[in-house]
Amino acid sequence: MTSYGRAPAYVQTPVGPFLNSLSVDRPLARYDLAGSIAHAEMLGQVGLLTPEEIGRLLHGLRQVAREVAEGTFPWQQELEDVHTNIEVRLTEIVGPVGGKVHTARSRNDQVALDERLYLRAAVSTLAHRLVRVQEALLRRASELRETPMPGYTHLQRAQPVTVGHYLLAHYWRFDRDLDRLFASVARANVCPLGAGALAGSTLGIDPDVVARRLAFDRAFENSLDAASDRDPLAELLFDLSLLAVHASGLAEEVVLFASKEFGFLERTPALGSGSSLMPQKRNPDAAELIRGKAGRAVGDLIALLTTLKGLPLGYDRDLQEDKAPVLDAVATLTAVLDTLGEVVLGLVFVPARLQQAVADPELLATDVAEELVRHGVPFRTAHDAVGAHLRAHDGTFVAAELARLPGADAETARTLDPATAVARRASAGGPAPAAVTRQLEAARSRLAARTSSLSSLDQKVGLVEELLNEERT
Ligand code: ARG
Repeated sequence: MTSYGRAPAYVQTPVGPFLNSLSVDRPLARYDLAGSIAHAEMLGQVGLLTPEEIGRLLHGLRQVAREVAEGTFPWQQELEDVHTNIEVRLTEIVGPVGGKVHTARSRNDQVALDERLYLRAAVSTLAHRLVRVQEALLRRASELRETPMPGYTHLQRAQPVTVGHYLLAHYWRFDRDLDRLFASVARANVCPLGAGALAGSTLGIDPDVVARRLAFDRAFENSLDAASDRDPLAELLFDLSLLAVHASGLAEEVVLFASKEFGFLERTPALGSGSSLMPQKRNPDAAELIRGKAGRAVGDLIALLTTLKGLPLGYDRDLQEDKAPVLDAVATLTAVLDTLGEVVLGLVFVPARLQQAVADPELLATDVAEELVRHGVPFRTAHDAVGAHLRAHDGTFVAAELARLPGADAETARTLDPATAVARRASAGGPAPAAVTRQLEAARSRLAARTSSLSSLDQKVGLVEELLNEERT
């Protein structure tokens, strides 16, 4: 038996400072406390604690929760991690009964539970921000529904689209990201508490009670798996990496479009700051940093996967390295999404430059070829004829000669109006304003459905706070 407030024997070692994880696992404190409350209640239900003991433990755990929230908790580095800090402090507050909270529990299943509760909250935070980015994209796409711009392949002008269509393309990428986050958090909704160190317990505990109390779908099936499963964290890091990669693509376009070479976007202060040396500079720093942070998110994913690779089953201390990359990626993406929302809302397009770019006749080469096809010319013949015409006339269409192409007539030149060309691209999912209107409707109803998934996730997240605040009756 340890004396109150002192380091228990199991953390006493000369390599303590190296084993210490308090600097990274402190953010898990509220989840750890909520998990302990549910655990203590379960111990009571199966008869391992008396009602009086449960009452004292819960009261003590809630006092610890207040100390953590108020910043008065006496963290002790020599207690190695958040779990032992909390147990020692609890024992100081409630006396020897504090030593009963760890009955039939190991730090191994405890940390696995803490991480799953943290994951829910992190996904909720991120999903709310992602939804805001999507709302910003929808707002801007609707405003710019009819504004033509060049669409690119190989970063070469290809065919005309609209700014609305372009922005919605980013919306759909983020829609899949949100879907992945929800799917990952749903798959992670299995409670590992009761796995013990690796092999459960002899004490007749009931993991289902804890699972239900914490709104998990069910308890684990295999204690050995449950104590070492970090799949939910790996999935989260993948989801965040791909989200960061998507954000980086949009950011790259902002950087390009805000260059004088493109000139599609004004270089507003909303995009970033200036140069300390060159008076004329206005840099798109925010977009550049969003682009740059993707490297960090991907690095976090690789760090975790590398830690997990080749680990034997059962808990291994390597697993302690799981938290730093996860916390880093969550903080990074939170900041990225906040800023991205601002950037999207603040984009100022330059209509004259877009107009000028979209007036490039080469953007309509495919449209002219398709016009010839409409008159029965095989597509390959039309492709060759239009290509030859453009090469002969320095990338422009010469109306008089255009009429002489196979299948062409005096009307063919009417194809050459950019606005008409966009309006004609009305196939499903295309850039024509009418098609974009339908796309916007689909996107809006999709987002509304997401918002309701988000509120059911938020209810689960709120449970932690409820457990910490609720005084037992
Ligand atoms: N700090 C540890 C971690 O984050 C907690 C579990 C420690 N378990 C143990 N048997 N040493 O993984």
